[in-house]
Amino acid sequence: MHDKPKSTESPKCHDCVCEYNRLEEARFWTRIMMEHALFIKLGLPANEPKLRAEAEDFKEKFARLLERLELVDKLKGDLLKDLIRAVEAFIEFKAFLLKLLIQCKADPGSNYPLLLDHIRREAERFLGLLVSPLPQDPLTLLLQQEAFWLRIMKEHIEFVIHLLDPSERELIEQAEAFRITFSRLLETARDLKSMAAVMPRRFNTVICFTQEVINHTMQLRNFKAAAFELAELCKLLSIVSTPLLLDHIRREADKFLDELGVLLPEVKNCSSNC
Ligand SMILES: [Fe+2]
Ligand SMILES: [Fe+2]
Repeated sequence: MHDKPKSTESPKCHDCVCEYNRLEEARFWTRIMMEHALFIKLGLPANEPKLRAEAEDFKEKFARLLERLELVDKLKGDLLKDLIRAVEAFIEFKAFLLKLLIQCKADPGSNYPLLLDHIRREAERFLGLLVSPLPQDPLTLLLQQEAFWLRIMKEHIEFVIHLLDPSERELIEQAEAFRITFSRLLETARDLKSMAAVMPRRFNTVICFTQEVINHTMQLRNFKAAAFELAELCKLLSIVSTPLLLDHIRREADKFLDELGVLLPEVKNCSSNC
């Protein structure tokens, strides 16, 4: 059994300054990009062989980059340049597909426009971390991450609701409850992020809010893990193209939890009197 890579190494905080680790992020997100390419390919209609081939090319490209990332202990030089180029091209591809759908210039297959937008945003985030992983104060960083990831979590729930078979009433009901909770959390995260722009020295509300976010995200993470297991065992009726999609969204929830696990204690130390 191989060890789970330590995911708590990014971001890292020291003396009330936090920064993402480029290599750790690249290892996480490159795998995510590779899987996005697979999901796009599986979701494209059969009458789009060229686009399917293009998606397959991206999948292979990211698989090769992932192998190279496993061999280095610093992300720089050609590998960094190749990675940036690949992510930029992939963002363009996702945007191109989304534009086709918005303008009704292609059959949708089973790639929802919002899914394409969602994975485009994830790729934009990855690109940002590759190009300029700026050190930041923990409070600002925490609220930025909460606003980013809560939107992602809310959309995962929406995708799951629309991919489950209508007869899966019990699961759909659970997912509906998550959707209401995460919509509310997202709205609050945006409010708090906006308020934090005035740079308060202490912001205790953020601590309580983040604890609530962690509790709900743990529950959502377990829901996704359970759905993945059911799909793997062929005990789930859905039009999910591959169970890997459910594992993928579970890993993204774990990444969010890992980041909160680093940032919350730092915010407690640096921006609260709790
Ligand atoms: Fe993703
Ligand atoms: Fe996602």
